[in-house]
Amino acid sequence: MLNINITRTTTPKQKPNNPLIGIGKAFTDHMFLMKYSPDQGWHDPKIEPFHDLTLSPATTVFHYGQEMFEGMKAYRGKDDDIYLFRPEKNGERTNMTNKRLCMPEIPVEDFVQAVRTLVELDADWIPGEPGTSLYIRPFIIGTDPFIGLTPSETFLFCIIMAPSGPYYGKDEQAPVSIWVEEEYVRAVRGGMGFAKAGGNYAASMVAQANAKQAGYAQVLWLDGLERKYVEEVGAMNIFFKIGGKVVTPALTGSILPGITRDSVITLCRSWGLSVEERLVSIDELVDANRQGLLEEVFGTGTAAVISPVGKLGYREDVLVINDNKTGPLSQRIYETVTGIQCGALVDPYGWRVKI
Ligand code: PLP
Ligand code: COI
Repeated sequence: MLNINITRTTTPKQKPNNPLIGIGKAFTDHMFLMKYSPDQGWHDPKIEPFHDLTLSPATTVFHYGQEMFEGMKAYRGKDDDIYLFRPEKNGERTNMTNKRLCMPEIPVEDFVQAVRTLVELDADWIPGEPGTSLYIRPFIIGTDPFIGLTPSETFLFCIIMAPSGPYYGKDEQAPVSIWVEEEYVRAVRGGMGFAKAGGNYAASMVAQANAKQAGYAQVLWLDGLERKYVEEVGAMNIFFKIGGKVVTPALTGSILPGITRDSVITLCRSWGLSVEERLVSIDELVDANRQGLLEEVFGTGTAAVISPVGKLGYREDVLVINDNKTGPLSQRIYETVTGIQCGALVDPYGWRVKI
């Protein structure tokens, strides 16, 4: 259990008028900070007014990108109850990422306590309009002021939070167009694709920028070896409904094991649907689409929630899915996941954590 020292702001900020802003533009009044050193371990946990960080220009994170982050949300329910969704999973994934990046693990209960305490303090920042929530961004950076290429020995764990609306900046359920990327790859097996490391996102930016210019919301990554198998999208995992079956790429090591992905698989199986976690080639999708069997495509993620995909741009072609409309399965999953998250539906799996 952490003994968190809290310093409250004396100058609360003005909250954004429009909570339907994209993710992470305005930040709440407070932030969580905790340091790590080899002799003291994780120590000095505190919450302070949101402020800038001061770091030596030699700091590890600036040169070698020793950084990880998490993404989670706090939801405001109907009776103003506040919930987190499976926060212990973010704590577990933090530790998985940290091992890969030579960073010290954090006890999961301490991670969750830090998030809970900060959310409680800034609870009045959680918007209540449909499609809105408070986005929570925990992150850890290597802080040694040393330019030699060795893992940092000191670290800083921070949590910042931002009220947010739909990730794609419009109606959360409107289908998005995604570009199938063949030139660049995001991650390879043996790399850190399964970890939530900032470096993965740096590697993705050029393809993302090109896709945006061509009118696509994000890219669909193919595997780094053969550029044949579908992996995931820029900020979400991907699902297909092919001939009545739900199919999603297996976790081969280069894909982020999404918490929403795991929840969607559990829900679909509980509804009696067949869910296959396996290799899915882009050729299989093109064939299925040609035969009229590619019934639905949707992405899953904390920021993206359940995001139907209406078009897949691939080479010279555009695969149009379900007439570029939200399909019934995507709709059902969206309603169920968001219903559980904000307390409107029963939560048979105990995923919701009330604050
Ligand atoms: N894949 C990537 C690359 C992501 O950034 C995210 C977002 O966190 C996801 C998948 C979905 O993961 P989760 O459902 O845990 O948010
Ligand atoms: C999330 O969904 O939490 C993410 O981390 C995606 C991010 C790139 C906005």
